[in-house]
Amino acid sequence: MARVFSGVQPTGNLHLGNYLGALTQFVELQEENECIYCVVDMHSITVPQDPKLLKEHIKDIAALYLAVGVDPKKSIVFAQSDVSGHAELGWILMCNAYTGELSRMTQFKQKAQGKESAPAGLFSYPVLMAADILLYDTDIVPVGNDQKQHIELTRDLAIRVNGKYGEDTFVVPDGRFLKEGARIMALDDPTSKMSKSAPNELSRISLLDDASKIKKAIMKSTTDSEGVIRFDIKEKPGVSNLLNIYSALSGKSVEDLVKSYEGQGYGNLKKDLVEVVVNAIAPIQERYNQIRQTQELVDILNDGAERANAIAEKTMARVKDHFGLGL
Ligand code: TYM
Repeated sequence: MARVFSGVQPTGNLHLGNYLGALTQFVELQEENECIYCVVDMHSITVPQDPKLLKEHIKDIAALYLAVGVDPKKSIVFAQSDVSGHAELGWILMCNAYTGELSRMTQFKQKAQGKESAPAGLFSYPVLMAADILLYDTDIVPVGNDQKQHIELTRDLAIRVNGKYGEDTFVVPDGRFLKEGARIMALDDPTSKMSKSAPNELSRISLLDDASKIKKAIMKSTTDSEGVIRFDIKEKPGVSNLLNIYSALSGKSVEDLVKSYEGQGYGNLKKDLVEVVVNAIAPIQERYNQIRQTQELVDILNDGAERANAIAEKTMARVKDHFGLGL
């Protein structure tokens, strides 16, 4: 059985990009692998968070994991800060990462853009992410395409440390990405990715949005003036994004969708997509509402932390030994 690890930041409700890029893979992979799914709360404090809200958001994300179909009997679900090995291994990796490679990370460049100085945590964010992954001897990391560079860095760090401290120090993981076209873009600006932090609420569809918000966001989504429904990410990023979302949620191929909308305008495509999205997320919302306020959710997170910690402790003992740390 391969070991799978992934995480999501508790910085607001999950959107369709998180769902289609990462969470659908989480559910698929748990059938045949040993999966560990983490709410990466320590990553979220690389930008200021309201402590009360953060506590709630951790449970929101965990409840959404379960609501989309992550099964706590098959997978470990826990909060990152409940397992101290993440921070500990993060430091050890930090001593093996270079400022040059970290300053080339596009996510850091975007987040620090225009600022004279940025928190050191934001700069070292990808090293903590590498620690998350390497702490569990992970083989596969299911993530959206936007995390490719971070996965590459994780592999580089693992290979570098193995070269210096022994080939069995870390398992070198592989990213698992959905096909290139499956990157979900912002509805108001299809040249940038759908994101939790974009100021325009209509740029994304959250898994907890109601039908009227979904309708508004899709009907107002940016397309183009050609009026022909075809798939072309470069020339027609808006229509292509809608087709991608439609295809991913309905299981119909983009080619079949393009054929079935031949001769029709964007209005019909958008109207149908509203229905597809609303129907796809209704059962997720139902399950979320059932679990979110329960003790069961807290118990699942506590049990997950215990199981995660047992694995992490073993890795930390091995890694410390290889580095000559401790007695
Ligand atoms: P985060 O919280 O930004 O996003 C969670 C997951 O959703 C994917 N994603 C997308 N996929 C397709 N289209 C989009 N528009 C889109 N937006 C987000 C992300 O790729 C991610 O898989 N650094 C990570 C969290 C993390 C992590 C880890 C992931 C920390 N440690 C260890 C895996 C393994 C992040 O910021 O995800």
